[in-house]
Amino acid sequence: MTRVLITSALPYINGVKHLGNLAGSMMPADVFARYKRARGVETLYICATDEHGTPAELAAAAAGQDVATFCAEQHKIQHDLGRRYGLSWDHFGRSSSPQNRALTQRFAQTLWERGFMEERVTQQVYSLADKRFLPDRYVVGTCPHCAYDAARGDQCDNCTRQLDPVDLISPRSSVSGSTEIEIRDAKHLFLKQTAFAPRLQDIINAKKGEWPVLVTSIAQKWLDEGLQDRGITRDLEWGVPVNAADWGPNPQGVRPDAKGLEGKVFYVWFDAPIEYIAATWEWADARAPGGKAADSDWESWWRGPESSDVTYVEFMGKDNVPFHTVGFPCTLIGVNETQNADGTWRLADNAPWKLVDTLKGFNWLDYYGGRFSTTHKRGIFMDTALDLLPADYWRWWLTANTPESSDATFTWEQFQAQVNADLADVLGNFVNRILKFTETRFEGVVPGEGEDGPLEIKLAADVAEKLAELTAMLDAAEMRKACQAVRQLWVLGNQYLTEAAPWTAVKTDRDRAAVAVRTGLNLVALFAKVSEPFIPFAAQAIADGVGESIPGIWPTADTALNLLPAGRPVKAPEVLFRKVEDAQVAEWAERFGGAA
Ligand code: MF3
Ligand code: ZN
Repeated sequence: MTRVLITSALPYINGVKHLGNLAGSMMPADVFARYKRARGVETLYICATDEHGTPAELAAAAAGQDVATFCAEQHKIQHDLGRRYGLSWDHFGRSSSPQNRALTQRFAQTLWERGFMEERVTQQVYSLADKRFLPDRYVVGTCPHCAYDAARGDQCDNCTRQLDPVDLISPRSSVSGSTEIEIRDAKHLFLKQTAFAPRLQDIINAKKGEWPVLVTSIAQKWLDEGLQDRGITRDLEWGVPVNAADWGPNPQGVRPDAKGLEGKVFYVWFDAPIEYIAATWEWADARAPGGKAADSDWESWWRGPESSDVTYVEFMGKDNVPFHTVGFPCTLIGVNETQNADGTWRLADNAPWKLVDTLKGFNWLDYYGGRFSTTHKRGIFMDTALDLLPADYWRWWLTANTPESSDATFTWEQFQAQVNADLADVLGNFVNRILKFTETRFEGVVPGEGEDGPLEIKLAADVAEKLAELTAMLDAAEMRKACQAVRQLWVLGNQYLTEAAPWTAVKTDRDRAAVAVRTGLNLVALFAKVSEPFIPFAAQAIADGVGESIPGIWPTADTALNLLPAGRPVKAPEVLFRKVEDAQVAEWAERFGGAA
């Protein structure tokens, strides 16, 4: 037996996420996790809120709350929302947890003691008015590359380039707006990423052809441009404290000079990916009697020989790819390995931490061809979407339009057309038609009479083919193609019913009608099972209609049309999918902004 460990990029705590965030990380990860569980694979799907860094502090300030309170509230909101979308996280943790603090500090200490970290005096933006340093988003100004006048210290939203706060032209504080800015020297810790370049190149070479081209090409671009050593500490109050006073000496026998590092925290992009591991620790603690798990309970997913049966799959948007192909692997390699005098590497102990096996990176989902934007409140957000329609509508559309090979775009018109066609006309209609007919003409039970004929034999072959396709696509986490395959299965059902026409047959040949009804009902059961990863709420209602439990066992070619025993009572569900009306679309396009 093998196990699968799944993580989706940790959503920032700074506010409710929009549908673009959902489409490019949590949604595909959830479909994949549900599918793996249905296949009987031991699965752990881990996610968490990303709670540190300037986005959290600034959002808390804007909300007039202290950061800890803000984060606690927002975590709960995101957790509840995720559950309402059916996101089947085994644990939804917090990067501000004690577990992450401990692990982040432990990793940093190891990196220092292995010689992969060093102290440097760097130039930082200091605000005289605010009496503080202004890291990352705390400073805004004009982009030195494209002249955009609201570039943030860490990145320009216009040309997307990574920036250093001191590069901004006409910098001003985003706390007070003050332009009384000075450049001052400050000590920070740097992770020597340059040392890892050959190791990272080996990994990327091995994954070319296996990972999406999007992912390997982003990683390759970073390697080609030459890795930079990276400052991993910040002058902030909220975050994982550096705590360097406790560290041992590095290979040169140097202890970190804690003076000048006190009061600093780690950069959010250093501690956030470590939270994937720490959230697994949180998961184990949450299940342990007394709230304190043995290390092996969570480490067996992540390190050493005990984790050798685990395949680790990461899901994320393309902006996150550099941090997961360069940043996080550098941390883990540096914790796992040491370098010999001749430059070769060896494992430091026999329990190395697991690096990603499969990295699924996604393009953007746009809103009418423009970016969804949290800052500009453009597009649809997870909370409002659920006020409009049930989760499965969103789940289906987002998964069927996963931005895999290119950016995808949301429009109300296309959304309406697709959910009405797929969910209402094809799936909903099929389930309703056959169950209603069973109720009126077959006493609401699965009939046992009659023998399969050529129609059923052909159907079985077609179903087997599509099922194999669906299974292959889900194994590969190819979401668009998986949706296509499941939709084609639904279509096969409709075609079959139209041809077998039990409503006509019943007038002359009751056995023939019984075969068609039995086959149709088995298709209903099949659809419940294979649709569960995509639309779990509707799948449950469908399964209930034919007395099946889901996810249950994933069907095979042999079982696909033999799921239901004769004589079992069945019942048509309430309307599964109401159609999205033109009037609703007009109203929503107006309310959320549409083509214009
Ligand atoms: N919060 C980041 C974002 O939304 C993603 C962090 S992924 C992590 O872009 F693994 F680093 F946590
Ligand atoms: Zn720019």
